[in-house]
Amino acid sequence: MTFNPLQERGIPLDRQIRNWRELNVTPIDPDHADPYTRCRIITMNGIEIEAVMFSHHFSRRCPDLEVRQKMAETRYVEAQQQKAVNWLLPGLNSVLETTIGYEQVAVDLTAWVARMEPDPYLKQAYQFGVLEDFDHLYRYANLYEMIEHRKAEKIVDRLTEVMPGRPTKMHHRHPVDNVRDHYDKDRTAPISKLHALTIMSAEQQTMNFYMNVGPTYMEPIARQLYQEIGLIEEEHVTHYESLVDPGETWWEQLLNHEYNECYLYHSFMETESDPKVKAIWELHLNMELEHLRIAADLFRRHDGRDPEQVVAPALPQPVTFEPNKDYLRELIATQIDYTTLGTGYVQEAHERFQRFQEQIHDAVEPASERVIDENRARSGEEYRLETEGTHPLYSLRTH
Ligand SMILES: [Fe+2]
Ligand SMILES: [Fe+2]
Ligand SMILES: [Fe+2]
Ligand SMILES: [Fe+2]
Repeated sequence: MTFNPLQERGIPLDRQIRNWRELNVTPIDPDHADPYTRCRIITMNGIEIEAVMFSHHFSRRCPDLEVRQKMAETRYVEAQQQKAVNWLLPGLNSVLETTIGYEQVAVDLTAWVARMEPDPYLKQAYQFGVLEDFDHLYRYANLYEMIEHRKAEKIVDRLTEVMPGRPTKMHHRHPVDNVRDHYDKDRTAPISKLHALTIMSAEQQTMNFYMNVGPTYMEPIARQLYQEIGLIEEEHVTHYESLVDPGETWWEQLLNHEYNECYLYHSFMETESDPKVKAIWELHLNMELEHLRIAADLFRRHDGRDPEQVVAPALPQPVTFEPNKDYLRELIATQIDYTTLGTGYVQEAHERFQRFQEQIHDAVEPASERVIDENRARSGEEYRLETEGTHPLYSLRTH
């Protein structure tokens, strides 16, 4: 069954404002919720934050009072949606547990997008990035065992493996090498635009989260690990945002943002296991259909084109959270030693990479290395969750 969000009717904008009672959502059960429900919540929080921030940036550049007022109205609803979504997370979870959830999102969402992406250059960008967040998950899982004495399978529930990927200390590249070539807005498949926006938003939210929660820790190793990985998330935002064609007009970007929100709420409504959360996805989809209609009107009026020329005629296959274990093991076996050079990828450490590595590490082992050693010393062995057998690379097995 095809679903064309441009043809559907949503909730009128003036009926989208929620009162305190409606905003006071019941959080998911911290111990028994489906980990992928938590992943969908984290994803949609990132999407709504991007919706809010994009709209602010657009408004700051827009001289038309009437448009600014319309955008303020929609943006207030986006802000309420962000609250309703993010407040589904339970207060009982620690910051580190939420962090592990963020990295699980980065792993399984990016792996899924990499599998579905039709453009080989874009696909490579997702394959490259996913091996890094995969390694972050392993570093944070060791920090979690070390300072909270708990195991990450409590969070990821054997859906996602936890073991070394591309070592975090190798993620620190010269910023110049984090800028990719962008897709061509007139030639690329509509799904590729949606993928790029989705992963960019997720990484941006992860970056924001680490930069804010990192200093709330007392333990020096935790403070340092958040600082280190926070800087890599900055690299990831640069990497993924550079895939988006900067030649898209503001109106076109607004249209793509609203379309992507429809796509993701529709996807999650179709795949959600928790009925209460599913009801929120459905409600928000019905709000987004109206946002999309408004964006499409503005696009017709100010950009002069038809929305159908820019977005897909029907929603693509739903974005699905599911295990990607074999796919990730295959990537580890073949792409672990990649780095970037200019807008491409190489397997050898080049001069600019090495110079940057020397500059940032300055002969000191970074927190991402020390956390493994310290946890090994404290817990007897490092933390891993290898559900499909030993590590695909012999050199990274525990002996
Ligand atoms: Fe929204
Ligand atoms: Fe990460
Ligand atoms: Fe990341
Ligand atoms: Fe929206």
